[in-house]
Amino acid sequence: MRPLLRVCAAVVAVVIAVAGSLQSPAASAETIAIIGTDAVADALGPDFATLGHKVVYGSRNPDRDKVRELVKRTGESAAAMGQAEAAAGAEIVVLAVPWDVIEEVVNSLGDLSGKIIIDPTNPRSVGEDGLRWYAHEISNAEILQQLAPNAYVVKAFNTMSASTMREPETAGGPVSVPLVGNDLKAKQTVAALITGIGLEPIDLGPVRYARIVEGMYYLRSNARMSGHPFNYHLRPQP
Ligand SMILES: NC(=O)c1ccc[n+]([C@@H]2O[C@H](COP(=O)([O-])OP(=O)(O)OC[C@H]3O[C@@H](n4cnc5c(N)ncnc54)[C@H](OP(=O)(O)O)[C@@H]3O)[C@@H](O)[C@H]2O)c1
Repeated sequence: MRPLLRVCAAVVAVVIAVAGSLQSPAASAETIAIIGTDAVADALGPDFATLGHKVVYGSRNPDRDKVRELVKRTGESAAAMGQAEAAAGAEIVVLAVPWDVIEEVVNSLGDLSGKIIIDPTNPRSVGEDGLRWYAHEISNAEILQQLAPNAYVVKAFNTMSASTMREPETAGGPVSVPLVGNDLKAKQTVAALITGIGLEPIDLGPVRYARIVEGMYYLRSNARMSGHPFNYHLRPQP
């Protein structure tokens, strides 16, 4: 996102009363581990770095050219390393990995107690008609919270494309980021990241509502496939 637009977006985001509870003091510089190095990592990593955070990518192969290029583009303080090493040194861990490997990934990351885990994953099955639907009875965010009970899981970023995360200004208007999680402070921290990169956070409750937020992805994805793409914008009632 361009710097001027970023500043404007941050100012607008402060003015917008998204959900009073999400407003918090300016976030301090944190180390953010992004596990995975594909589209979501590529969109969020460089943007989080411009907010003053140290971004480290956790990769199964951190030395390959594509990852080196991403690190370089992210900025001087960025780095890439193994997934567990990246998570160990971070206060915030983004699980930008395929939805069906979260269990093995989380179990390999070591102790995540006290860390914020941002979950953008979209578990899905695809019907014979090509439409998306739930892959299991429970949300990925709840599975994560069960696997790491002393971490603060926040579901976020799953209801938009990686390109909208990277360039919200191309969406034609404001874009909401629904987030759910059990810990208000963790949600405030994630909300500050969201407003910082030009998107609008909206708190939809505790993690047990993640299944609904994951379902929002199916509606958006189905609409995109039928040629009528949209983004969510949940406008606060005056
Ligand atoms: N793409 C989008 O527009 C979008 C939008 C919203 C949400 N999401 C969700 O966000 C998540 C990330 O999506 P994505 O498109 O960025 O990437 P992805 O194709 O789901 O893979 C992301 C990364 O995960 C790592 N990875 C792959 N298989 C793994 C395994 N078996 N164990 C551990 N790590 C593995 C790889 O990193 P290394 O090779 O470096 O290890 C890969 O670059 C997905 O769950 C997706 O549903 C995607």
